[in-house]
Amino acid sequence: ANANTAALAGNVGAAAGAVEAAPLTILYGSQTGNAKSVASQLKSQAESRGLSVKLVNMADYKTSALKKEKFLAIAVSTYGEGEPPEDAEALHAFLASKKAPKLDGVKVAVIGLGDTSYEFFCQTAKDFEQRLTKLGADVVYQRADLDVDYEEQATQWIAGALDIFEPDLKAQQQSQSNVVSMGLSTPVAQSQYTKQNPFAAELSVVQKITGRDSTKDVRHVEISLEGSDITYLPGDSLGVFFLNDEVLVDKVLAALKIDPETSVTIGSETLSVRTALIEKLELTQSYPGFVEKYAQATENAQLLALLDDKAVLREYIEARQIFDVILQNPATISAQALVDCARKLQARLYSIASSQAEVEDEVHLTVGLVEFDAFGEKHFGGCSGYLANRAEEGVKVKVFSEHNDNFRLPANDETPVIMVGPGTGIAPFRAFLQERDTREATGENWLFFGNPHFTQDFLYQVEIQGYVKSGLLNKVDLAFSRDQAQKIYVQDRLREQGAEVFAWLEKGAHFYVCGDANRMAKDVHQALIDIVKAHGGKDDEQAEQYLKELRSHNRYQKDVY
Ligand code: 2AM
Repeated sequence: ANANTAALAGNVGAAAGAVEAAPLTILYGSQTGNAKSVASQLKSQAESRGLSVKLVNMADYKTSALKKEKFLAIAVSTYGEGEPPEDAEALHAFLASKKAPKLDGVKVAVIGLGDTSYEFFCQTAKDFEQRLTKLGADVVYQRADLDVDYEEQATQWIAGALDIFEPDLKAQQQSQSNVVSMGLSTPVAQSQYTKQNPFAAELSVVQKITGRDSTKDVRHVEISLEGSDITYLPGDSLGVFFLNDEVLVDKVLAALKIDPETSVTIGSETLSVRTALIEKLELTQSYPGFVEKYAQATENAQLLALLDDKAVLREYIEARQIFDVILQNPATISAQALVDCARKLQARLYSIASSQAEVEDEVHLTVGLVEFDAFGEKHFGGCSGYLANRAEEGVKVKVFSEHNDNFRLPANDETPVIMVGPGTGIAPFRAFLQERDTREATGENWLFFGNPHFTQDFLYQVEIQGYVKSGLLNKVDLAFSRDQAQKIYVQDRLREQGAEVFAWLEKGAHFYVCGDANRMAKDVHQALIDIVKAHGGKDDEQAEQYLKELRSHNRYQKDVY
């Protein structure tokens, strides 16, 4: 409730101050929150320089305000095959449309967040810059296209961009800072532990929660936050650092005839190459940059040939982990040169499956083990493989919490919620239910869960059935896809219950989706459109508009991956 009031107060303040000198408007379009966090950092840095700023999610930005802008900073990520994040879609399209206004003399700077392992790296940032330029805006600071490991460069870019904006902004600005903070502000305190400075937490439990005959291996993980100041809310994620498989690291060193104790440096740190490969470098999830650097460092003709064709290169790396690339292409290379080919190991983010209201200083995760066969060997995902196969209960794992204000229970405990979370997508809803249970929230709760088989894959079955019994869960719909000849998915259950789903939406329910982004979330979205059409008497466009409205009121939220 507090957060809501604060956001409202922010809006009112901004409206009252809207006639003041043009502020630096920071627009962000975020999918996982990185662009938002860069935008927030830009805002606080600008404020500490005494500049007036306005921070707005692109999804909430009124395009009619464009005409009044003088200073624009854009922080935007790229999604899938070069697509804008959902929140940026409308503005991205608007700027390319005939309706877009002239922006002569508007000063802009763009920062892009992306992942070099995707072909269309930072494409959305490039689009924004190009579209704004076409409308007459001046790019006053060079665009940065940042990779997953963006923090340091983002900080540099922010300082550089503000150096450019500051004199002009100061010149035309007298006083007042207009701050619009759309959506809920973070009501939890920032911990001293961050991605750069994670907390070494005890891993207390790793328990397989799929049956022995399941096609999947899902682990319930419990980590103790005791001794840290880390707090989190339902909807947040936990970043987890992991160790690469020592067996594979030793295989690599043997194949390259590198002495494991050879010293290497990474940044300002000196360590043995073996430790570097185990603790510091990304060797599972593959990225084209490695192949490129390794090909050049080893002058491997076959690998070099791959670089000429992006599609071929992509196909090559998609079928392999970095370990495979090295083991299949042993060469003479120095320890340092090898280390320089790889990028820094990134923490994996997991949606938190617990509420602190219930588990206090613990944090729970629902981890799907990534495993596949390739080249006659079993392969495992970096972090899930570590947690499931190598980390013994009791070891320390480095973690930090990542707040996600785009996935929050309603502030009002009486508001009904519909939760769609097949597979490991159940995680944040377990947190939601724990939270609502301990808060004795009276709002109705409806869960849609799906997985292959009832007997093998009903994650948290006992708890869910307990919540049904206690009355916390008012409705549960299950979609065990392979228990019958024809596949049944959560979206089929939604459609079956269409009238009631629509009735819940009409009475103010919030709708949440967590899990697979590629297919499930899209299919669920389509099911929602069909439901709104069928039961709300709307056409396609009106149904889209209905969902857009829900989204802009934070009543349709997704945590998809
Ligand atoms: P399947 O593997 O039997 O096809 C969690 O992974 C559950 O989501 C599984 O039951 C899986 O079914 C199902 N699933 C697969 N594709 C889906 C889709 N497009 N929409 C919803 N559920 C899907």
